[in-house]
Amino acid sequence: MLKKLFVILIFAFFAMAAISVSAVRATQTQDAMVEFKDNNCVACHARLSNPYRLTSRYAEWHISTHKDKSIGCEKCHGGDPAIKDEKQAHAGVVAPQDSKSRLHQKNLPETCGACHQTVVNSFVESRHYQKLKDAGLGPSCSTCHVHMASQVLYTPEETAQMCSTCHNSPNKLMPLRPEIPQQANEVMQAIRRANTVVMWADRLIQQAEAKKLDISEAKKEQLIARAVMAEARTSWHAFNLDVVRKKADDAFEMSNKVKDSLRARLYPQQQ
Ligand code: HEC
Ligand code: HEC
Ligand code: HEC
Ligand code: HEC
Ligand code: HEC
Repeated sequence: MLKKLFVILIFAFFAMAAISVSAVRATQTQDAMVEFKDNNCVACHARLSNPYRLTSRYAEWHISTHKDKSIGCEKCHGGDPAIKDEKQAHAGVVAPQDSKSRLHQKNLPETCGACHQTVVNSFVESRHYQKLKDAGLGPSCSTCHVHMASQVLYTPEETAQMCSTCHNSPNKLMPLRPEIPQQANEVMQAIRRANTVVMWADRLIQQAEAKKLDISEAKKEQLIARAVMAEARTSWHAFNLDVVRKKADDAFEMSNKVKDSLRARLYPQQQ
């Protein structure tokens, strides 16, 4: 009995130690910044405390996926991160409103495309890209993704409003096409619905694995659903709204089936 208690105590001790170590690690990764130890853009901007327009931008980057993937400021803004002096480091950093900036609306597809080739290929197919190149008209990457692109700016309703400013506006700059914002709203809802169910199915797969159920079939189907969802996200950028909606709905159907079959096995009492 004592021996058993001792084993449990030892086990608990190691478990606690493991938890606290991983907690420390989790906080360290956000601020350890090993990849950025020689990056002066990051070192200097991290310490600035005003004005707002600079400090908020830095903080957005600090908690972004781009930072987690070691993408420094210079990858988008230009400039030289190896130089400590502010003026010299900024050589080539131009305000995004300036048409020479790598981040000007017209130049974003090329700048972001360095890493997001498939999305940009899809965008380039659209009439928007042509108009953006020729006349500076039409939405570009940061219209919807904001600074750090960690989220899509718009809800389905807001997306529809954004499309309306050009496609259904009384100023008659363009023909009235009320069906475009309407359809965009539905497509955004389709994307959200599918994303959510894909996540739901993922969680059930984790639970089933923890219970050591044989779910190889469900996992195969979920893999396909994820691939179709990725295609939906990419093809949204060509604005072929029917195609996107079909793909998002297909992904939804597939993950929904996975979800239902796993729920039936994990929680039969709820059926
Ligand atoms: C030694 C400190 C320092 C370094 C190094 C530095 N910056 Fe800055 N940066 C500043 C300060 C201070 C400002 C605000 C300047 C102003 O308002 O006149 C600024 C402004 C900016 C702006 C806004 C420009 C504008 O006028 O709106 C951008 C973008 C920027 N920096 C990017 C970078 C990038 C990219 C790097 C690295 C290649 C970098 N910075 C390196 C201190 C620094
Ligand atoms: C993934 C690309 C990307 C990275 C990485 C990035 N930025 Fe930006 N940044 C942008 C885009 C795009 C804009 C303009 C879009 C907008 O207005 O929202 C912008 C705008 C800014 C502005 C406002 C500039 C102005 O003149 O109004 C500042 C300041 C800035 N970024 C600072 C930084 C700093 C500092 C870093 C690194 C710590 C950084 N950014 C990393 C893409 C990036
Ligand atoms: C009209 C709005 C809009 C514009 C313009 C736009 N995006 Fe997107 N983007 C979205 C939406 C919506 C998603 C899907 C988000 C989701 O699944 O929640 C997305 C997803 C993405 C993703 C993630 C893809 C994935 O598989 O996870 C990347 C990368 C991306 N966009 C880059 C870009 C780039 C680069 C541009 C400019 C060429 C751009 N976007 C222009 C709305 C837009
Ligand atoms: C130097 C490479 C690089 C550049 C330049 C770059 N990105 Fe990314 N981006 C990444 C990586 C890496 C990820 C992580 C996801 C992945 O592996 O595809 C990512 C993720 C994203 C996501 C998914 C959002 C998230 O938080 O998960 C969006 C949207 C996105 N980028 C948009 C942009 C836009 C818009 C630009 C141009 C302003 C841009 N990126 C420039 C490398 C880059
Ligand atoms: C800043 C203006 C602007 C915004 C915002 C905008 N568009 Fe457009 N869109 C255009 C222009 C310009 C064209 C090209 C029209 C032409 O070729 O005559 C276009 C063309 C299109 C087309 C092809 C139309 C056809 O039948 O030939 C579709 C579809 C479209 N846009 C969807 C959208 C959606 C969806 C949104 C919102 C997510 C949106 N647009 C937002 C300017 C805009």
